[in-house]
Amino acid sequence: MEDVATLKIGDREETLPVVTGTENERAVDVSKLRSETGMITLDEGYVNTGAVASSITYLDGEQGILRYRGYPIEEVAANCDFIETSYLLIYGELPTAEQLENFRHSLRRHTLLHEDMRSFYNGFPRDAHPMAILSSVVSALSTFYQDSLNPGDPEQVEISIQRLMAKLPTIAAFSYKKSIGQPFHYPRNDLAYCENFLQMMFAVPTEPYEIDPDFVEALNLLLIVHADHEQNCSTSTVRMVGSSNANIFASIAAGIGALWGPLHGGANQACVEMLERILADGGDVDKYVDMAKDKDNPFRLMGFGHRVYKNHDPRAKLIRVTCDRLLEKMERNDPIFDIAKKLEEVALQDPYFIEKKLYPNVDFYSGVIYRAIGIPIQMFTVLFAMGRLPGWIAHWKEMHASPSKRICRPRQVYMGPTERQFVPLDQR
Ligand code: CMC
Repeated sequence: MEDVATLKIGDREETLPVVTGTENERAVDVSKLRSETGMITLDEGYVNTGAVASSITYLDGEQGILRYRGYPIEEVAANCDFIETSYLLIYGELPTAEQLENFRHSLRRHTLLHEDMRSFYNGFPRDAHPMAILSSVVSALSTFYQDSLNPGDPEQVEISIQRLMAKLPTIAAFSYKKSIGQPFHYPRNDLAYCENFLQMMFAVPTEPYEIDPDFVEALNLLLIVHADHEQNCSTSTVRMVGSSNANIFASIAAGIGALWGPLHGGANQACVEMLERILADGGDVDKYVDMAKDKDNPFRLMGFGHRVYKNHDPRAKLIRVTCDRLLEKMERNDPIFDIAKKLEEVALQDPYFIEKKLYPNVDFYSGVIYRAIGIPIQMFTVLFAMGRLPGWIAHWKEMHASPSKRICRPRQVYMGPTERQFVPLDQR
């Protein structure tokens, strides 16, 4: 018998198909509900709405499981670098040695920005947030590569994917150099992805720059754990924009805007700013925990809580170890990390956080690691964007490959005034 759900509306009964995923997640398919009953479903914030059937990332928030294309995040992080992880996400399978080498090679070939693009950077104010610059320059890629904007042409899509992956670190590092008034440092194609990014960020023409392999390792891990997280706000944005057949650059630029917000990717910056605020205020962690619990106070503990993870965030678990190791190795006593540890201890024992299942999320530790590497605070979310790029691309590609692709267009329940008579200006 077909798996169905029955919905009773008044004395009418409707049967709705039930879709079962490969991990036995079950969903009631409501796509025909309106045409059959005149009713829609209402779910503000998409708390319980499956917008797509996807084969990229599986996560189980109750058990704290995260898998890319079926492979547990812990195994991916232990065995792959960020480029291999990106290949897995974008193309669906682990690459052979030859496929991986070809992928690395093509990314290396596309790291340079068109020289005319550099002039954009002069137009931005010196204190412009690098996420705004990132989004603008990614959007501007569509003006430089007009020959490859057709989402329906696999060759054009492929070259655009390679350009995006290769150029994003350059765009990001240039935005930082602009903000501190240093000359842009060009990419070096003899270096691997993370090494190259670090030298573009920190090298100056006046002295040699030594790349610290521990920083490279930490950066690789952070990019990997951020690489995809199924239908989060920015990924859904990329899919939403892409569903109109907007080109991939426009879609990713929109995703960067969505990621910027402090409730999403911006939380890593907001988290370290919060830790700095607690430190400057005398380090009284309890005071801030109480503020977060106070219903009349809008303050929230940044880096705590997650829409999906209600047990622990597996990404946080992975990077916490690196965070400890990195700071220990550097023999660096960062008071911010002490505050973070205190906050973590207090919050994990407090009934409010236990009852509401609010655990430290990935942003809680990532900010501290970025800080240890020397990444300036306003670049934290940019690093998140670099990590999330292969996920966005994978979802954009998957959506276009789907035979059931349609433009995304939610409905609404209208609550405004019913028809009223127009009042002319002189009578208002
Ligand atoms: N501090 C204090 N209380 C909190 C927090 C927090 N960080 N997060 C949630 N709550 C409370 C919230 O007030 C609510 O209480 P009540 O039921 O009494 O009204 C309850 O917990 C449920 O919260 P919610 O806002 O309904 O949950 P949500 O799923 O809509 O929001 C969240 C998820 C991540 C936006 C939220 O937990 C939050 O604002 N966290 C801080 C920002 C943050 O760290 N964001 C990064 C998320 S991980 C990176 C990413 O994937 O983007």
